[in-house]
Amino acid sequence: MQLIIKLLNGVFLGLLFSSTAIAKPDINAGKESAGMCFNCHGAEGNSTNSNFPTLAGQKPAYLANQLRAFRDGTRDNGMMKNMTSALSNKDINNLAAYFSSLKNKSAGGNEELAKQGKSKALMCFGCHGNGAKGMGVTPRLAGQHPAYLQRQLHVFKDGTRENGPMRGIAGMLSDEDINAVTEYMGSLK
Ligand code: HEC
Ligand code: HEC
Repeated sequence: MQLIIKLLNGVFLGLLFSSTAIAKPDINAGKESAGMCFNCHGAEGNSTNSNFPTLAGQKPAYLANQLRAFRDGTRDNGMMKNMTSALSNKDINNLAAYFSSLKNKSAGGNEELAKQGKSKALMCFGCHGNGAKGMGVTPRLAGQHPAYLQRQLHVFKDGTRENGPMRGIAGMLSDEDINAVTEYMGSLK
């Protein structure tokens, strides 16, 4: 498992460097087009509604990948398909740079469940970074809404969300594991 994680990280870092080497993103241009995103994702990208993930402080390479995936249809969501259909790769990189520059406000998690989820979370840090603060194309989970994370683990598990290595990992988690580990992630700062 450790070796697989190391190999995968190598691939992800390679992707990260090759995609950021192309053009330097413009945070101010991203900020100018971000106003409409706040309607759902909250002021400055800190969502107060678990239907919508927090974007503030998320890794730029992950954000850019997701925006392209929604636009190109490899991640399926009607709202986000509409939001991204007119965006160029440059617009996407600017938006990603802007949201990643904002300060993340932790959504918090249920304390009792968070305690139970702590041991399971150890197997996530290898890819999601220490304290699940994110790494390259692997997202920050720390402080994200537990209910949003739960939905994502279920769509990975049933195969509706296909990108990346999460299908197999989510498949190893029971519903109880999913509830506990996501409350733990949400409780991190
Ligand atoms: C009408 C509401 C709405 C608006 C406006 C909106 N989004 Fe979203 N966004 C969503 C929903 C709902 C999801 C969760 C989709 C899912 O469950 O897979 C999402 C997910 C995302 C994700 C994936 C985050 C993750 O952790 O995987 C990104 C990135 C994102 N949106 C960026 C944006 C940006 C940038 C804008 C503005 C250009 C925007 N969104 C505008 C509703 C919206
Ligand atoms: C082998 C590396 C790896 C491991 C181990 C791993 N993840 Fe992931 N995870 C990823 C990658 C890569 C993505 C991004 C997938 C994509 O691009 O859509 C991801 C995405 C996610 C998402 C979606 C987040 C969002 O904002 O939509 C959740 C939730 C998640 N992982 C939870 C976990 C949990 C919980 C664990 C531990 C039980 C874990 N992951 C272990 C690599 C990993």
